[in-house]
Parts: sequence; C-alpha cells; structure tokens
Amino acid sequence: MIRLEKVSYSYPDGTPALENIDLVIKKGEFIGVIGRNGSGKSTLALQLSGLLIPHTGRVMIKGMDTREPSKLPEIRRLVGIVFQNPETQFVGRTVEEDLAFGPENLCLPSMEIRKCVDMALAETGLEKYRHHSPKTLSGGQGQCVALAGILAMKPECLIFDEVTSMLDPESGIAVLETIKKLHRKGKTILYITHNLEELHDADRILVMDKGKIRLEGTPEKVFSDVSLQTFGLALPSLIELTENLKTHGIVIPWEKTSSPQSFAEEICRLFLKT
Ligand SMILES: Nc1ncnc2c1ncn2[C@@H]1O[C@H](COP(=O)(O)OP(=O)(O)O)[C@@H](O)[C@H]1O
Ligand SMILES: [Mg+2]
Repeated sequence: MIRLEKVSYSYPDGTPALENIDLVIKKGEFIGVIGRNGSGKSTLALQLSGLLIPHTGRVMIKGMDTREPSKLPEIRRLVGIVFQNPETQFVGRTVEEDLAFGPENLCLPSMEIRKCVDMALAETGLEKYRHHSPKTLSGGQGQCVALAGILAMKPECLIFDEVTSMLDPESGIAVLETIKKLHRKGKTILYITHNLEELHDADRILVMDKGKIRLEGTPEKVFSDVSLQTFGLALPSLIELTENLKTHGIVIPWEKTSSPQSFAEEICRLFLKT
C-alpha cells in the first residue's frame, strides 16, 4: 500500500530529518514508530501523507508518487494524519460542521456528506456531541473529533503522531481502543508514540534515530533488543521485569506481559503451581 524508496529530506533551513529510508507498509498493518525527540518520526509521517515531498528518493501511495502534484489531493485523502494538539485542526463551530469540512472539500453531494459525517460520528462514539462546539470537549473527546474528521474522508491509512501524549491515562486508553477497533476493521495504522506499552500488540515496530530506521521487527523482538536503550528509549516496566527475571532463569511468555493481571496470574501459576 505504501512504499518508500531511499527517501531523504532536509528542512529548508538545512536541518537533516530523514536519511535514505526504505520502507514497505502492507495494507492492514499496525506499525508502531518510536525514537527520541528529533529522530525524524513526525517528518516520516508528513512524508507518508504527502504533506512533505522527498528531496531524493520517492514515496509511493497505492502506486501514486507524492512528487506528482496532480496526485496529492487523492494521496492526502487516502492517508489521514492526526496530531498531538487537535485544537489546531478544528474548523467548524459544531462537531458536525467540523466533520463535514473534509467531505465538502472533496465536493461530494450533500447526501453523501451527511452519510460520511454520520459514519465518522458512529465510529468514534461522538453521536451525542454532534451539536457541541469541538472547543468545549475534553482532550480525549477532542482527539476523537480530530480522528472523526479524518475518517469522514474515508482514508485507508491513518497516522497518529503522539495523539495520547497530552491526555490523562484513561482518555489515552480510550483513544487507543478506538484506533485498535479501526485497525480490526481493516485500516492501515502508523502509530507514533513515546509510550512503548501502547505497542504491545503492534504488528511491527520501527525504531528511529537520527533520521534512520535503526531497528525493526515484532514488539517481542524489538523490546528484547539490548540496543534499545542506546536510542533513548525506556522499556515498559513489565517487559523490563520480564528481562530481569530471565537472568534468574524465570521465563514469562510474551503473551503474559501485556497487562499486570496476566503477568501476576503467570507468576502465581509458576510459584503456587495451582
Ligand atoms: N519545521 C522544521 N524546520 C526545521 N527543522 C525541523 C522542522 N521540523 C523538524 N525539524 C528538525 O528535523 C529533525 C527531525 O524532526 P522530527 O521529524 O520532528 O522528529 P520527531 O518527530 O522524531 O521528534 C529534528 O532535528 C528537528 O529539529
Ligand atoms: Mg514528532
């Protein structure tokens, strides 16, 4: 669905941000992207959604090259992006108006716009806020409005750039659940985060550093890679605990490390032999 071939990019002031990136993203994948601040994660996201264009190499979205201006509107519809601060994206007085903005720009007939808006409200559980001003909603609801605004354009791929970082833990979990539901329904997801715990179930994780992909693989493989710390990343505490237990000869299977509950059950099973 998405292919990057030897993509490099520097900002106009000369700051290098991406260096020789090769990447293939398959339809329906859930990819996590991690890396310290300034490693190039957001720049990668902007390249994938056609908001930035490579200086060398190329980005192909369903066979369309982002360097071709005539393809950009369709590329930007196919690959939607949600940022950390949703307020900066709100354009409507009400949630409903806000969600209609994208489909209106695509010049869809009004019946069709209505259908898109209703679908996006239902997918994000926002029906009851239809007539509210997006600015009066909580942080988590605001993120859902931003997500719904993208969904209304029926994208195939969704990119999330640190969308839970400003939210309280409970709202963050709710937003991530909504994103996982969209993934189960077939959307391709690229999820950028500093919270590695959120990526336990990802299909694949990319670790970025200095504009390059330094490490890549399943969460199980990436989390147990000793070089992770050198990229400024902290392991989820259950994973760290599991790694420590391993040095004492106690092995906790990967599936049991997804929550404190399953971890505790496994420990009890091992030691109480119930
Ligand atoms: N608009 C910009 N102008 C100049 N340099 C930028 C701009 N945005 C990001 N950079 C620089 O590009 C590099 C990659 O940044 P970014 O992609 O934002 O990383 P991340 O999202 O991983 O924190 C950093 O060195 C950053 O300072
Ligand atoms: Mg960033």
